[in-house]
Amino acid sequence: MKNLLAFCLISLFFSCTVSGQEKILNLYSSRHYQTDEALYTGFTQKTGITIHRIEAPEDALIERLRNEGAASPADVLVTVDAGRLWRAEQVGLFQPTRSAELERRIPAHLRHPDGLWFGFSTRARVIVFNKDAVKLGEIRSYEDLAAAKWKGKVCMRSSSSIYNLSLGAAMIAHHGDQKTEDWAHGVAANFARAPKGGDTDLIKAVAAGECALTLANTYYYARLARSQKPDEREAVAKTGVLWPNQDGRGTHINISGAGVIKYAPHRREAIQFLEYLASDEAQRYFADGNNEYPVVSTTKTDNPALTALGTFKPDTLNVSALGRNQPAAQKAYDRAGWR
Ligand SMILES: [Fe+2]
Repeated sequence: MKNLLAFCLISLFFSCTVSGQEKILNLYSSRHYQTDEALYTGFTQKTGITIHRIEAPEDALIERLRNEGAASPADVLVTVDAGRLWRAEQVGLFQPTRSAELERRIPAHLRHPDGLWFGFSTRARVIVFNKDAVKLGEIRSYEDLAAAKWKGKVCMRSSSSIYNLSLGAAMIAHHGDQKTEDWAHGVAANFARAPKGGDTDLIKAVAAGECALTLANTYYYARLARSQKPDEREAVAKTGVLWPNQDGRGTHINISGAGVIKYAPHRREAIQFLEYLASDEAQRYFADGNNEYPVVSTTKTDNPALTALGTFKPDTLNVSALGRNQPAAQKAYDRAGWR
């Protein structure tokens, strides 16, 4: 009760029922997708649990949770990228969750070994190329982006973007620090312009012929393919997607994930929510609504943009490595001059 009162006083955003009649879940989310609404209403319909939600950028949410500490009303943190889940884990925000259902449905490489967080959808970081400038088969891997033949033809997002940090971290897991730094050096030497913009801007720059090659997450590409705007569909028509490293370790993937907060006032509801995210219904929302890949392999989806991209072999490196190697990846990028 003391906790509940403290929680009611602290948060102006949440309604409180001291009698405990109403079942609630306080969710902090940094997922920036409107389609997530369907996930929350689906959960409430199924369980009768009302969700109170705070949405903010990732690092701000993590900072907020740190500041709130034991007085935080938060039950669950939902965020994108294993690198960010790792940052939250590093500052002690999560408590371990044991759930036979989560362990059965989510492959081991897509969740924390001790249950601090779980991946609920995946996204792949693919090579997007201009069809007029690059012929199919001319480039096959992330490593190829460093080849001298692409001098002046590569556009990239900044190296501090969590998506590139996680890719660099995966590289380090496979090749070590030095080879990763050498690769980053080669890629930076091929830049058509200084790093800028997000994944969508980069796909459009490739379509416009400003550069021949870039890296982007699959859901951005699929979103453009399903866009109502003709110029965005045109950008997709002018470009192709290449699944990197299909002859070897597979394409780099990342997760969107969630974990139960250390001081969660509604722990039972929090676990119910995580189990819901792994349900067939929620898994379909991730795929059909936000163009991500379900983590539960038996999920049937009906997303034409994902179908058009085809199937691929993913890298099965445990995504925990993406966080662990992040500082080393930033160092490699810095030394290579990839800003
Ligand atoms: Fe994103």
